Amino acid sequence: MLTDNLGRRFYYLRLSVTDACNFRCSYCLPNGYQPTDDSPHLTAADAATVVRAFASLGTQKVRLTGGEPSLRADLPEMIAASKETPGIRRVAVTSNGYKLPKVIDSWHQAGLDQLNISIDTLQRAEFAEFTGHDCLPRVLDGIERARDLGVTVKVNAVLLADGAERRLGEFLHWLRTTPVTLRFIELMRTGDNRNYFASNHLRGATIEEQLLRDGWQLLPRAQDAGPAREYQHPDYRGRIGLITPYSKDFCASCNRLRVSAQGRLHLCLFADQGQDLYQTIRSGDSDALAHQVRELIGGKAPSHLLQQEQVGATRNLAMLGG
Ligand code: 5AD
Ligand code: SF4
Repeated sequence: MLTDNLGRRFYYLRLSVTDACNFRCSYCLPNGYQPTDDSPHLTAADAATVVRAFASLGTQKVRLTGGEPSLRADLPEMIAASKETPGIRRVAVTSNGYKLPKVIDSWHQAGLDQLNISIDTLQRAEFAEFTGHDCLPRVLDGIERARDLGVTVKVNAVLLADGAERRLGEFLHWLRTTPVTLRFIELMRTGDNRNYFASNHLRGATIEEQLLRDGWQLLPRAQDAGPAREYQHPDYRGRIGLITPYSKDFCASCNRLRVSAQGRLHLCLFADQGQDLYQTIRSGDSDALAHQVRELIGGKAPSHLLQQEQVGATRNLAMLGG
């Protein structure tokens, strides 16, 4: 089992398959995707090598992220290869949902277990304004289809200060009858969003206090779970999760590692730089790769330094899939 100096175990790999995205979320890519790195992306076979190496180190869950992973036509192939890797129990995808109704059946057939879709608002016009695409109804249709197929669906919503209370009300209304988990993510400061962050960051604790007052109850955390604290309520079919990277001890329960679409190991979302694994990955030698990852894990820092405004090399989260 892959364990670091602090005894943290890494059950969970987040593998980015592209840094490109077609959305322009205001906190991430307000001017749209601009390629900054022309190093080649991993092929589907490379991705399979990465997953094999991590599985041999004890990884049980793989999430394929981006950018927007559906921009790759070979995503179903990568889902299938991950799912077929001995040791991998769950395969997830994080997507903006843009193509969801068209692609969800092929992802499901490939073995997808869980889908995370980003929706920051349930108002169609506001969604179009936030993302640059007027496609909320299509995203919601895709979610319906995913649920019909038996895929676990989680919705990610970044907390944004302006209008937060109205949006929370709209989300709560939706969750009364919709059995999905909605996770509010505290806005994170990245290299590119300094001013946006300053005017839009809202503490997750504000929402959490309200949920507790309204009778929501905290659920126990699963071993391979993400960093969300999840709440349920007897009057609601959906659940609510809170992801608060600025809270104390957030990093103590870190159980994930990240590999970028260019084959770099990121020990933290906010690390100064990734470690280049590209050549080893290309060689197809998953044992050598596992060895290299094991050597590098000692360099994992105890915590990010976001509180001190050190955001590392991450200019936006499209680079690394959040
Ligand atoms: N802070 C918090 N969440 C972010 N995401 C992208 N950028 C940020 C940021 N700066 C979210 C997306 C998506 C997930 C992959 O990461 O909205 O839900
Ligand atoms: Fe939005 Fe995610 Fe694309 Fe960034 S990568 S612009 S958060 S959809």
